[in-house]
Amino acid sequence: MSGARGIVVAIDGPAGAGKSTVAREVAGALGYTLVDTGSLYRASALVAERAGVAIDDRAAVEEAVRAAVAAGTLRLDAGDAGLTRVLVGGVDPAEALRTPAMSMGASAVAAYPGVREALLDAQRAFGQRGAVVLEGRDIGTVVFPGAELKVFLTATAEERARRRCDELRGKGVDADYGVTLAEVRQRDHQDASRDIAPLREAPDAVRVDSSAMEPQAVVDAIVALARSRGAV
Ligand code: DC
Repeated sequence: MSGARGIVVAIDGPAGAGKSTVAREVAGALGYTLVDTGSLYRASALVAERAGVAIDDRAAVEEAVRAAVAAGTLRLDAGDAGLTRVLVGGVDPAEALRTPAMSMGASAVAAYPGVREALLDAQRAFGQRGAVVLEGRDIGTVVFPGAELKVFLTATAEERARRRCDELRGKGVDADYGVTLAEVRQRDHQDASRDIAPLREAPDAVRVDSSAMEPQAVVDAIVALARSRGAV
């Protein structure tokens, strides 16, 4: 995976730890491609919804997602400037993926083995090219256990809920802190307690707690680590 093609950087951690922003900036600083794997799970929830499938009907959701991946109606696209994007029916669903309902749906479908399996190849195909930053929950443990750099980016639940509220309010959504904190905790629990690919720190991951750090300091630390592991 390493050498002239560049290394694989895995950034895992709970929702709201700042992964998206940090991963984008790290990829930009290194000139690497970014893959936001959470968008694949969000898009899977959207595929299920559009297929008229109940989110708790595991077999039907798995079948809908498998079929969408096989047909190419759910896929990753190289996009512009190294930013991959997920396409559903050839269209980037953009903000439709980022609603609280889609966050809960994504967390639910991410617990289904058939969904995870269906999304694995797409993630690996991008990563195998090297010079890539993948951001998710199980990149360092399942998708790329051989990644040259694994970062586990975390922050307290309270800090993550505060950031989520700020983000939603910035978009004009009337977010309540108590409700958001409860959602963060519920998602943490769902993501950490599922049987398959639970949110877990890889033994060889570097743990970064962003609770009291400026985003730029987090980015600088990860870029320095990547360079020390062979990124140029
Ligand atoms: O990072 P995010 O909030 O966009 O992720 C949405 C959901 O997808 C989240 O509940 C966890 C799940 N997910 C996962 O199980 N594995 C990944 N590699 C990425 C996301």
